[in-house]
Amino acid sequence: MKIRVLGSAAGGGFPQWNCNCHNCSAVRAGRHGFTARTQSSIAVTANGDDWLLVNASPDILQQLKQNPQLQPARAQRDTGVVATMLMDAQIDHVTGLLMMREGQRPMELYCTGSVWEDLSNGLPLAMTLSHYCGVNWSPLPTDGITEVQIPHLEGLSFLPIPLISKAPPYSPNRYSPRVGDNVGLMICNRNTGRKALYAPGLGEMTPELEAVMRQADTLLVDGTFWTEDEMIRLGFSAKPAADMGHLPQTGPQGDGRGGMIELLDRMPADRKILIHINNTNPILDETGPQRALLARHGIEVAFDGMEIDL
Ligand code: MLT
Ligand code: MN
Ligand code: ZN
Repeated sequence: MKIRVLGSAAGGGFPQWNCNCHNCSAVRAGRHGFTARTQSSIAVTANGDDWLLVNASPDILQQLKQNPQLQPARAQRDTGVVATMLMDAQIDHVTGLLMMREGQRPMELYCTGSVWEDLSNGLPLAMTLSHYCGVNWSPLPTDGITEVQIPHLEGLSFLPIPLISKAPPYSPNRYSPRVGDNVGLMICNRNTGRKALYAPGLGEMTPELEAVMRQADTLLVDGTFWTEDEMIRLGFSAKPAADMGHLPQTGPQGDGRGGMIELLDRMPADRKILIHINNTNPILDETGPQRALLARHGIEVAFDGMEIDL
């Protein structure tokens, strides 16, 4: 099984179109130690030709160009994307669906009932796409135990894991959350038994989630913010990280205690990778102290094109 990171940035990408924070200015200036990233998406394959796209980011066309593995060119019109699965209804995870409207057959879309509702009401992409390729929706289970198998991805199973995070601002569930607004995904190679947990939007830890995370050989988890008040201190938002559904890497001491770093320190996984990195996050400075602290804890930072073999 191969997982390929198509987009490792959070919403807005890196650099963000209207942002001149330290990181965005540095990456635009081509400074050493800063690498541009597109918005939040991964692709998974068992055979190298057929891929599950997990999240359809607004940068999907650039991502498909940058990842020719997803275009096997077996026919005049073809794609390696056999199905798309959504972790939530956030803009950075769904608006790419519109870019795939020219499909030769209805789009195979896997998402929870609450995400499907948001994509049928607040952001009616499902209705819009019905005027193009059409959508064949497969509901994702949210009991945290029922696995999904997907045609052309033989040997792989996908277990949605309900997460405490946030539905998008346009959703009526933004402040009245429902199970299924946000999920993570345990991806299992049934031939090797190896597992990866992908969770780009993880707001709060629970004992159940901790138990699931302990089963993963690779963790590919929410790395949006370094601290709770990152956006507040920069004057970009009045909202703490928790209000946006993201567990920051560290508490106010800045030493890894009280956040995702401390949590990952407890995990037996071989690889611990942060993904869905906001453009303001200091870990995007590859020569900075925060990146060095991650390295001391054996934590990696995802980049576009990263590959994980399991
Ligand atoms: C988030 O993860 O908080 C959202 O995706 C932000 C956004 O894209 O608007
Ligand atoms: Mn996001
Ligand atoms: Zn920025």
